[in-house]
Amino acid sequence: MRRKTTWVRGSALLLLTAALGVVGWCVIFGVRAVLSTDVLEAFLAAYPGEAPLPEGTAEGIPAFVSWTHFLNAFFLVLIIRSGLRYRFEKRAGGLWTSRRVKKRRMSLALWTHIGVDLLWLANGIVFVVLLFASGHWVRVVPTTWEIVPNAISAGLQYVSLDWPTHHSWVNYNALQQLSYFAIVFLAAPVAALTGWRLSTFWPTTLNRFFPGSAAKALHWPTMLFFVAFVVVHVFLVLTTGALRNLDAMYAGRDSATWVGFWVFAASALAMVVGWFAVRRDDWISRLAKLFGDVRMMKR
Ligand code: HEM
Ligand code: HEM
Repeated sequence: MRRKTTWVRGSALLLLTAALGVVGWCVIFGVRAVLSTDVLEAFLAAYPGEAPLPEGTAEGIPAFVSWTHFLNAFFLVLIIRSGLRYRFEKRAGGLWTSRRVKKRRMSLALWTHIGVDLLWLANGIVFVVLLFASGHWVRVVPTTWEIVPNAISAGLQYVSLDWPTHHSWVNYNALQQLSYFAIVFLAAPVAALTGWRLSTFWPTTLNRFFPGSAAKALHWPTMLFFVAFVVVHVFLVLTTGALRNLDAMYAGRDSATWVGFWVFAASALAMVVGWFAVRRDDWISRLAKLFGDVRMMKR
């Protein structure tokens, strides 16, 4: 009996995969056929996929972007790991209590989460201030409505698997620009605001303006949005000229040498170490004791 159901399930899965393959194939070649018509060829020529930048925009990735981008990714790994730990641990490894406000008490996982959040926020504020001070903001914030047809154009090119060739050193394509704008100016503030609401640092006098249930309902999907962004972002970075993209972001140079790759590899190693460090209550408690009282729980 069991063998039969496994067999039926296996065939159903195979059929479904084949069906999805055929649908995918039809969509890709359907879009390709449409793109080769005169109308769409003219559309792609008028809107190649990247919106024009204001005149005089400087080329390049400034050093502050490289630094804050690395720190952002590093802190985000710790934030996600500690958030997940807080959500899924059955029993806290230790409890941290503020010396100033005795009611302020939390598990070491949540203490780690909120501690790294503060570092992440400080880094984000430095990034945004320098973004506007340096003029680099026009690369990340859309400045013309031409972003809309160009985003449609880039989207069609992605679906047709004939990806828009981009040169990140000079300009991002419209979908890249929109997604960078969304992660910096929408997702990050939503994560911070909902997180602050859920924390013991939120002033209760403001409760009626922002119910805790709304914050709880939003905080988790925001994390999922971050994870989805990072998966697609890193996939595209690695499949659209990895060495050139990594050289631009991690070494601040317009070339395709291995320097950027090795800097990136070192940063990835730091992230892996950070991922495992979030589980080490012995390390975390030492740090947490500097800011309050810690009581370790028996496992
Ligand atoms: C300033 C920024 C942030 C603050 C102050 C903050 C604060 C908090 C607090 C207080 C909780 C506990 C919620 C509860 O008691 O139910 C929490 C949970 C969590 N946070 Fe954050 N957070 C921030 C940013 C982020 C970011 C950027 C992510 C991920 C990208 C994230 C992921 C999570 C996850 C996965 C949980 C567990 C959610 C759950 O239990 O449903 N947080 N955060
Ligand atoms: C460790 C994994 C990551 C790698 C390898 C990576 C790589 C890159 C590269 C190469 C660029 C330049 C654009 C391009 O060539 O496509 C870039 C830009 C950018 N990335 Fe990432 N990234 C990573 C993680 C993240 C994370 C976690 C975020 C945010 C949650 C992020 C947000 C951005 C933003 C906003 C830009 C535009 C920066 C600007 O010009 O001001 N990246 N990234």
